[in-house]
Amino acid sequence: MVTLTAPTVEQHPSGLGIGEPAPRLSWRFVLDSENDNAASKNWTQTAYEIEVQRKNTPVESYHVASSNSVLVKWPSAPLKSRERVEVRVRAFGGSSSSSSSSEPAASEATAWTPWTAVECGLLAKSDWTAVPITSTKSIPSPDVAEALRPLRFRTTFKAPVSTTSQARLYITGYGVYRAFLNGKRVGDNFMAPGWTSYAHRLRYEVFDIGSLLDKTPGAANVLAVEAAEGWYVGRLGFHGGMRGIYGPDIAVMAQVEIDGATVAITDDSWQCSPSAIVRAEIYDGEVYDAREETDWLNPAVTANWAGVRALPLPSTELVSPNSPPVRVTEVLKPVELITTPSGKIILDFGQNLVGRLRIRGGSLRSVKESGHKIVLSHAEVLENGELGTRPLRVAECKDTIITPEPGQASALDDDWTPHYTFHGFRYAQIDGWPSDAQGSFLDGTIVAEVLHTDMQQTGHFECSHSKVNALHSNALWSMRGNFLSIPSDCPQRDERLGWTGDIQLFCKSANFLYNTAGILGDWLEDLASEHLLDEPGKNDGIPPLVVPNIIQTLWPHAPLAIWDDVTVLTPWDLYNSYGDVAILRRQYESMCAWIDRGVKRDATDGLWDPYAPQLGDWLDPTAPPDNPLDARTNGTLVADAYLVRVTGVLAQISEILAETADAARYGADAKRLLAAFQSKYVTPSGRLMSDTQTANGLALAFGLFETEAQRRTAAARLVDLVKDAKFRVATGFAGTPVITHALSSAGYAQVAYRMLLEKSRPSWMYPITMGATTIWERWDSMLPDGSVNPGDMTSFNHYMPGSVVDWLHTCVAGVRPLSPGWQTFAVQPMPGGGLTSAKAEYETAYGRLESRWEITNGDQFVLDVLVPANSRAQVVLPHEQGIDATAAAGRWVGSGRYRFESSWDSGKDWPPKPYRSLFDDFLDLPVEDTIIKG
Ligand code: BGC
Repeated sequence: MVTLTAPTVEQHPSGLGIGEPAPRLSWRFVLDSENDNAASKNWTQTAYEIEVQRKNTPVESYHVASSNSVLVKWPSAPLKSRERVEVRVRAFGGSSSSSSSSEPAASEATAWTPWTAVECGLLAKSDWTAVPITSTKSIPSPDVAEALRPLRFRTTFKAPVSTTSQARLYITGYGVYRAFLNGKRVGDNFMAPGWTSYAHRLRYEVFDIGSLLDKTPGAANVLAVEAAEGWYVGRLGFHGGMRGIYGPDIAVMAQVEIDGATVAITDDSWQCSPSAIVRAEIYDGEVYDAREETDWLNPAVTANWAGVRALPLPSTELVSPNSPPVRVTEVLKPVELITTPSGKIILDFGQNLVGRLRIRGGSLRSVKESGHKIVLSHAEVLENGELGTRPLRVAECKDTIITPEPGQASALDDDWTPHYTFHGFRYAQIDGWPSDAQGSFLDGTIVAEVLHTDMQQTGHFECSHSKVNALHSNALWSMRGNFLSIPSDCPQRDERLGWTGDIQLFCKSANFLYNTAGILGDWLEDLASEHLLDEPGKNDGIPPLVVPNIIQTLWPHAPLAIWDDVTVLTPWDLYNSYGDVAILRRQYESMCAWIDRGVKRDATDGLWDPYAPQLGDWLDPTAPPDNPLDARTNGTLVADAYLVRVTGVLAQISEILAETADAARYGADAKRLLAAFQSKYVTPSGRLMSDTQTANGLALAFGLFETEAQRRTAAARLVDLVKDAKFRVATGFAGTPVITHALSSAGYAQVAYRMLLEKSRPSWMYPITMGATTIWERWDSMLPDGSVNPGDMTSFNHYMPGSVVDWLHTCVAGVRPLSPGWQTFAVQPMPGGGLTSAKAEYETAYGRLESRWEITNGDQFVLDVLVPANSRAQVVLPHEQGIDATAAAGRWVGSGRYRFESSWDSGKDWPPKPYRSLFDDFLDLPVEDTIIKG
């Protein structure tokens, strides 16, 4: 039996308020293979039927003979702004005896999906009659004069007395906001509307407010909105940063519509009052002065309320996001209460996370003193037993509560959290906690709320080695912490920016762990907007280095490989993961601009100008703390390896988009550049001019050798370099994502495992030995003595070096897409490293796949595979892999559950030994076992 999941629209998380009038639909398949394996074997779709129920019209029915189930064309007439329809889908198909037959033996219909609502947002700017409103004059924070005090806005409106069926709030703003209707919070979004390239794209949100409306005839509904600086107005950027980057005013723009009638809009009839949150900044935190609190959601309370200033309709595009909102996704209790050597109280949450503290409602009610300050300071690590705040640089990461007058009602009566800031922390120092407060620190009086873009977790990995699982968990947590509205480098210091290189390098890993189609698709639109419309050098083809770009005045505008290659490689990774060709089309102009005009080339061979500065193998472990650029691998070689790869990928993209002239041109360029690379850097025998792990890793992973003999030489050389390094990592940003792949695809999986399990510094396991719960920016962000790396740039939550998890998914568990959206995929596990089992599960665009292997009786390899319907897998067993793992053929299977068995010698080539030099022996240096135990 095969059933379908409810259809999804475009990459939208809910289908409410979509920005596309002809939304493409997708459905996934669920196999009931436990009960009926035969009926779900080799199940393929032959046709589908979509029914669309528009208001007051007969059901429209569309039958389409097609195997396509991912992002199929909208069958009906385009939707209008606000239009709500119901859709349902069923598929026709069946099983066949062989995975290769394109037609099943018999085709029958699945059950219909449930009816699913699809509703358009406001598609045109002219749909907005609201305008942004702000205070009549800027109200500075009493706390930090340059910061603006958050504002509260309020109006009342009457709901039409009717059987309301569609009540909506459309809302956006300059800054970040929360809306309330009749005293109740609308939605649970955090830091809304999120960060976009505001000059080009400002998101709005759509809420169903039907359940919050007071429909009593004549009743006044109270709509209130609180807003703070957020990314729009607040301080952003390192070296002290800048304020008011997008504009000087905090503003909100809201429109309430009930069954087609607009009943409230932000305009100059609203009222405004300063908030009792007297300061809210992303880097520095929030100050809540409960003495300033009023019953602000009650319109009868008018003291301190004044009129507003209406601003013109934003000139930027107003867009409905595909990216899910940021939400609280988990709550953690502290695991330990620490009293520091200086007598401070610190809560340890046992996990480095991104979010905020929550204080139980009423716990401060018994406090007698008014105006008393409780300060909550956040940091990722302890240093010398105290809160380690140096890595935060110019970010205070502190929230302050000022206690109310005795008996005064305030937000502290309910659970209290800051609302317009977030922190990266594992430890929170609590200063000034009153002795007459209720509750104790470990009983849940103070908890941590985890915040990030609420994406669907799609990938899971687990193996028999607990420390490898810990590494995987650390990468997952670093992804969670750095997917808060945008893909960021780090979530704690005065940065938290969308550095392009970081996500380019981590994208494959990210796409497996979570469904990133919405957030990264949206972010790429910002990238293209800023790239094509804002080029500071006007038409120089160079994309911004961070998106949204706020570092124009902080960083030189120069072309940089790896980072700027995001233009081509990240849409490509998304296309391969989610099968959406539209993303290639949308980003195509930006891709070509970068390759045609952005790259600074040497006129003689078309490779990079060797004098163009590069970030190259950024953060090579030998780079001194104060110079992350000082890498062993030549930066131009790194850039050129990338240029060959990126040009080849662009040729493939041009082909897919039927841009035939471009495909031919880029294809020829890629060949010419490859030959130039070979003549410039590769010796006839296959040695490279930079004799490093990164150079050999890149050349192997990107296929840059002319002959198989050269490839073998380079692979053997890479093994030598790794053994010489005693399995320690010698790669920075460029080499880290590829090194294990380069080894295992050349037949040296055991050497890759040996590197993975090395625990001496620098290595992936060293941070685990130091108790890391997220991925560190530097291999030694914390030194063995527990002190923080002296470098000015030391984060404990950077996903990039965690990109090794892609190797865990694709080589250890062995699953990777072979065609876009995983319609076909490989299951090619590479056991090794003494592991006795590993498994991966992943929700593809077709349904759930599984790959689980186990070694039983010491030498039996047993592999269980689940293949989703309408997709196929190529299964390659370990003994079939030979020395060229990528060329192995294996066998193809269609949907269903399968078991494969073969023999496996766990001891073969394991563990590989490091090279010991004559001098090691002469000096009688001890041979230590530096493999981390499971
Ligand atoms: C960021 C990196 C980024 C780099 C580029 C750093 O400050 O944290 O991850 O890619 O700058 O220069």
